[in-house]
Amino acid sequence: MKTRRRIYEGKAKILYEGPEPGTLVQFFKDDATAFNAQKKEVIDGKGVLNNRISEHIFLLLNRMGIPTHFMKRLNMREQLIREVEIIPLEVVVRNVAAGSLSKRLGIEEGTMLPRSIIEFYYKNDALNDPMVTEEHVTAFGWASPQEIDDIMSLAIRINDFLSGLFLGVGIQLVDFKMECGRLYEGDMVRVVVADEFSPDNCRLWDINTKEKMDKDRFRQDLGGLVEAYTEVARRLGIMNENEPSPAANGPFMVASRPGRTRH
Ligand code: TMP
Repeated sequence: MKTRRRIYEGKAKILYEGPEPGTLVQFFKDDATAFNAQKKEVIDGKGVLNNRISEHIFLLLNRMGIPTHFMKRLNMREQLIREVEIIPLEVVVRNVAAGSLSKRLGIEEGTMLPRSIIEFYYKNDALNDPMVTEEHVTAFGWASPQEIDDIMSLAIRINDFLSGLFLGVGIQLVDFKMECGRLYEGDMVRVVVADEFSPDNCRLWDINTKEKMDKDRFRQDLGGLVEAYTEVARRLGIMNENEPSPAANGPFMVASRPGRTRH
């Protein structure tokens, strides 16, 4: 059997050499990690759900003319992507206080922020992804001032689009993390959106009940992660009503209501 060259293995994904030069295959694992992998678990079905949810969002972003690395989904766990040079920044966009912002600044979780806030973290596990400013980013050459401008405008467009997309299905987009890469085309290079968009890297709350439908279910030991991700997929119209969830059912709020119609 032909084996593929593994290019990179991250905490939740593996990148393999793609079928054509300049392409890669992105494989979604079932591994869940938090707190820089101090907390770890394998959650059956998570990778399949994230692959589908991320495909759905990237297709919409591509359709809107937002440049991304995404080409197509290949199967239940893999997608074909363009090879990019990852810019070593985790770009976090926040609409509502939660997570590390609440902790660091003592702002109660759930407080609407006066405006959307963009933060940069230096992508470096050994250092625990420290928060950095534009000054650090340009001084250390992680991205140029022009690239920072491009990243910020992508982040704002994506936040506006995703906020509306999720609001339409009864979900509040609290915050999300995105990553960008440099796509080299001939002698041109441009910044494109890379990585994934899934409940692993977005905070998603049910608009009415405020129940968490994202990886905080794992981070905070709330249980019902697959059920929550399945509900996100179902509301986005990805999962067929009759399609079984990739994992066994368990307790999760509204998810297991039989015969439920989509929002
Ligand atoms: P934070 O509140 O923990 O800083 O997280 C902000 C957002 O970024 C949240 O949607 C979760 C996401 N995130 C990641 O995708 N990867 C990470 O390593 C961390 C810390 C957060």
